[in-house]
Amino acid sequence: MNASNLKRVAAESAVDFIQSGMIVGLGHGSTTAYAIEKLAQLLTDGVYSDIVAIPCSLDVERHARRLGIPLTTLEAHPAIDLTIDGADEVDPKLRLIKGGGGALLREKVVASASRREIIVVDASKLSHQLGTSFVLPVEVVPFAWAVEARYLEGLGARVTRRGGEDVFLTDQGNVILDCQFPGISDAPALAAQLNQRAGIVEHGLFIDLATDVIVASPSGLHHLTAQQDSSAVFSSLVQAQEKES
Ligand code: A5P
Repeated sequence: MNASNLKRVAAESAVDFIQSGMIVGLGHGSTTAYAIEKLAQLLTDGVYSDIVAIPCSLDVERHARRLGIPLTTLEAHPAIDLTIDGADEVDPKLRLIKGGGGALLREKVVASASRREIIVVDASKLSHQLGTSFVLPVEVVPFAWAVEARYLEGLGARVTRRGGEDVFLTDQGNVILDCQFPGISDAPALAAQLNQRAGIVEHGLFIDLATDVIVASPSGLHHLTAQQDSSAVFSSLVQAQEKES
């Protein structure tokens, strides 16, 4: 199975946790797109009814609208039953790096408002330490980008402004600084530090937000939950992945 198929399998399996009547958060990215398509199909087929969704980006909003998924807002529904989202990197404690698609701010708002946050990934996203296989995206206000870049370099990151000269702007009109750390040894401490810095709007460290991670690997589907110690399964998946690549 190639990476796209693995993404599809993980995403579609998460849709099984949706029930009629739910408020559903829809994450941004190529993996979650499969879940959105599956949800739309099940609504069309009448398997689910009375569902309204909150999209995590303008792209997702357009995609869901095109497929006829009824949408709502956080004003109308401040408590979300279940969100399905992707991730760029997942560690054994189900902490995440997100924001590869630039939607980290809305994704974190939606995750924080969700009773259940199901992350869907293929096994290549698993990593013993965050920051070793993916940069950490940090969203900053455009006015401050240069001083924030200096600040982040001071914390040991190699910093790239996303988009270069053709600067990438988020849905909120902010800039993303992609930070290559030599691994992030204490993700909660770094998250706390970034949370305090003026000019940083949000960062892609998602700590204690994922309740479930569904991993599709060549050996099958694996459901990791925050309530259970998944470290043994996690290690075997990472080992198998390392042999593959
Ligand atoms: C969007 O900003 C990200 O957080 C995505 O969830 C993440 O980049 C995963 O994307 P893919 O599913 O496309 O790998």
